[in-house]
Amino acid sequence: MSTNQVQIFDTTLRDGEQVPGCKLNTGQKLIIAEQLDLLGVDIIEAGFPVSSPGDFKSVEEISKLVKNATVCGLTRAHKNDIKVAAEALQYAKRPRIHTGIGTSESHIKFKFNTTPEKIIERAVDAVTYAKSFVEDIEFYAEDAGRTDNEYLARVCEAVIKAGATVLNIPDTTGYCLPEEYGAKMKYLRENVKGIENVILSCHCHNDLGLATANAIAGVQNGARQIECTINGIGERAGNTALEEVVMIMKQHPYLNLDTNINTQMLFGISKLVQESMGMIVQPNKAVVGDNAFAHSSGIHQDGVIKNRETYEIMDPADVGVTESSIVLTARSGRAALAYRAKNVGYELTKDQLDALYPEFLKYADQNKEVDDNGIHQLMEMSKVLL
Ligand code: KIV
Ligand code: ZN
Repeated sequence: MSTNQVQIFDTTLRDGEQVPGCKLNTGQKLIIAEQLDLLGVDIIEAGFPVSSPGDFKSVEEISKLVKNATVCGLTRAHKNDIKVAAEALQYAKRPRIHTGIGTSESHIKFKFNTTPEKIIERAVDAVTYAKSFVEDIEFYAEDAGRTDNEYLARVCEAVIKAGATVLNIPDTTGYCLPEEYGAKMKYLRENVKGIENVILSCHCHNDLGLATANAIAGVQNGARQIECTINGIGERAGNTALEEVVMIMKQHPYLNLDTNINTQMLFGISKLVQESMGMIVQPNKAVVGDNAFAHSSGIHQDGVIKNRETYEIMDPADVGVTESSIVLTARSGRAALAYRAKNVGYELTKDQLDALYPEFLKYADQNKEVDDNGIHQLMEMSKVLL
């Protein structure tokens, strides 16, 4: 792995599936896991095996199915969780146990009613125990976003010594600002002994709409794994969206950060997850929303028809969208009308277009959008071709 390679850790089937009403059965999870493997994600977090017999079965079946990606199971820092996860992962070619504990003041005080030193002991015990089953151990310091950096560094150093291979620094509550989250990664890189031997991972939630920006700040400051979900689904306001971070790295080559993702599959897998979970993304969702490559104002349409790059920073084909669309509305200009009319078979002269345009505006004012049928109707009504 080159040092500029960012591992994509997909948690659609674990953190993503925690969304109320989005539960998937094992068959649906297997279909998504197979597509994620083809997409090129490096790690698939398949579930939380101890949480239910159904989740155990899903992790076990996904472990048998997946050919390339590492398959990961989540646990708390409990011996039984870890033992059950190891059992569910036993058929995986590359198994990973993801264990951890809360490290912020509020988690230590209110969730665990214990002391910072005892938390370190529990973290070390969990990693040591997990290491007796598999080699690849990811440790999460839950609520790391609100954890004091000095203490966080001590936790990280202790779990590295115990055998952790990946350190997940979750902004569990989506509270951090990008510079704060980036600075946290930098601080850990500079202050934790042994950090050069492990991968730092970004796991960001979207409570303030910053999950994508925070994950990018993390990799700009030395993290080399991003935990994300298709369409950004997840607890509350969701997680970092896989399609967003992948396309940011692709479209900004000066960042010098690569992934293994086959980006042309992004649109298709987004639709698969939307349909399986019954959770449809908003039309203006970045990269995969229905309007992500649709142009409707006259000024933009004129530019795009002349050259796509005037208003598009990505080639739609790169994310699996066949082509940009020019949507005809009452805000469209002559260029868009001529373009769409030509697409359905009417090559208009300038005079014909000038005659048609006022009719079009009247028609468009009464209809939200003028589709292909609308264009045919308009041509018949206006008789400009006679
Ligand atoms: O958000 C979080 O802290 C998590 C951990 C369990 C990794 O999802
Ligand atoms: Zn999370």
